[in-house]
Amino acid sequence: MAGAGSHKKKFRSQEWFDNPDNPGMTALYLERYLNFGLTREELQSGKPLIGIAQTGSDLSPCNRHHIELAKRVRSGIEAAGGVPFEFPCHPIQETGKRPTASLDRNLAYLGLVEVLYGYPLDGVVLTIGCDKTTPALLMAAATVNIPAIALSVGPMLNGWHKGERTGSGTIVWKSRERLSAGEIGYDEFMDIVASSAPSVGYCNTMGTATTMNSLAEALGMQLPGSAAIPAPYRERGQVAYETGKRIVDMVREDLKPSDIMTREAFENAIVVNSAIGGSTNAPIHLNAIARHLDIQLDNDDWQKVGHHVPLLVNLQPAGEYLGEDYHHAGGVPAVVAELMQAGLLPHPDALTVNGKTMGDNCRDAENLNTEVIRKVASPLKEHAGFINLKGNLFDSAIMKTSVISPEFRDRYLSNPKDPEAFEGKAMVFDGPEDYHARIDDPALGIDENTVLFMRGAGAVGYPGGAEVVNMQPPAYLIKKGIHSLPCVGDGRQSGTSGSPSILNASPEAAVGGGLALLKSGDRVRIDLKKGTADILVSDDEITRRRAELQNNGGYHFPKNQTPWQEIQRGMVDQLAQGMVLKPAVKYQ
Ligand code: FES
Ligand code: MG
Repeated sequence: MAGAGSHKKKFRSQEWFDNPDNPGMTALYLERYLNFGLTREELQSGKPLIGIAQTGSDLSPCNRHHIELAKRVRSGIEAAGGVPFEFPCHPIQETGKRPTASLDRNLAYLGLVEVLYGYPLDGVVLTIGCDKTTPALLMAAATVNIPAIALSVGPMLNGWHKGERTGSGTIVWKSRERLSAGEIGYDEFMDIVASSAPSVGYCNTMGTATTMNSLAEALGMQLPGSAAIPAPYRERGQVAYETGKRIVDMVREDLKPSDIMTREAFENAIVVNSAIGGSTNAPIHLNAIARHLDIQLDNDDWQKVGHHVPLLVNLQPAGEYLGEDYHHAGGVPAVVAELMQAGLLPHPDALTVNGKTMGDNCRDAENLNTEVIRKVASPLKEHAGFINLKGNLFDSAIMKTSVISPEFRDRYLSNPKDPEAFEGKAMVFDGPEDYHARIDDPALGIDENTVLFMRGAGAVGYPGGAEVVNMQPPAYLIKKGIHSLPCVGDGRQSGTSGSPSILNASPEAAVGGGLALLKSGDRVRIDLKKGTADILVSDDEITRRRAELQNNGGYHFPKNQTPWQEIQRGMVDQLAQGMVLKPAVKYQ
């Protein structure tokens, strides 16, 4: 045993608490951590010291249940011979944070990097859940690369209203249309939406939260089967205990994020993302985590590795069911097992946090409800992955083809002479405020041949990238039965939205991307088969508009409101490149 006074250096925490070469510093480090009741035996006998990165708080209701779960994590850590140290993370609440929670992903990342680097921790439990918490914590674990395991807080129970499942976010988009059409009033609208949030936990649809928690498991960073367990279920507390136990052994084995999150693991995650119908925010976040591990991953990889994969998971917004159903059907292991049976999982040998491979963990997992998790032979959609569009409007923009509705396909993609392509007249909005102020103005002449553009909503423009590209048509069109128009933008879209939008366009207007040159009334052509999106104006006209933009001092966007907005705007990369802080990627 590496007891007090021993020179044997076993874990990094002993550089703080058990360094006989520098007794003065050691005593200073030690005495303050003894003052709440820890003993020298706990801190100096070579036990792994385990951080619990706590994302739950009253400001983060989606993750708040982690405050309870952390008690089970602590018990697990202690049972395995470790010492727990719980500490707070910067809150990132998706729906409550202005101007957008996405602005704070990189701030939470930076904060956690400093904590993991600067304090005597040998390993860490990452408490994930609400959309941006998962990537922020995995990015930090990637940078510091000490043993780390993720623990999902779990989704809320299913929402119900008048006998129908009401899913987070998705019910807002649907009911908002009914409110606009005058079918329901304000109070009924509020009741329907509140019914979708019946318990602790994160969004119960296949929004960004369920997506990112599933992908944390598909990357190998969570215990198998743990992502989908609903927050209030007893198994959630039990897996919290197992997670605490496991991280202690991971420290003893020195099993690090870079051993698990390999290029192969990211390819597995991309395939799983297609099969679950995952959020269009996933490429932003996975590309970011990869960059912090020095792994090349871009939106072309998403199309190449993921586009041909079928949609298997029948969850809203692409399907019918919600989080509890997903768990009862078998969650991520059942999805992976279906993919493996069809030979679609590219890397069954990828290692996971339990020390076994993805294939060994999932091969025999049972699919307990083939209506909720379909077989590959009877999917909800073929080719459910993203396509990566390019052209004179942008270098890269993502489209989730699995949510294209029959109505949308009939109206825009059914010309036999020009399949998968459509042309329309652009209507351009500069940020969400401009859209809300003008969309219902009949003088704009928006009709079913209009393509709605949203710019000024990217990583720099908004800042942080606003979830605003899924724009509802004007009320007068909805009343005529037109429920969606094609939408394109340099911002993001909520993962709970079912709109077939073209998103995350990079480079964005704010840094001089092609969208800054677009004018309302321009003809635009979008070809999903060729993967192109272009303004139909001459090259000379584009050159003229670019000179005009430069003479006007570039594209104008709102002023900074906080110091962090200014700092991040000065160093952030584009959405297609993961929206990482450029100076941060060299620290590995
Ligand atoms: Fe937090 Fe959806 S708003 S998980
Ligand atoms: Mg969101």
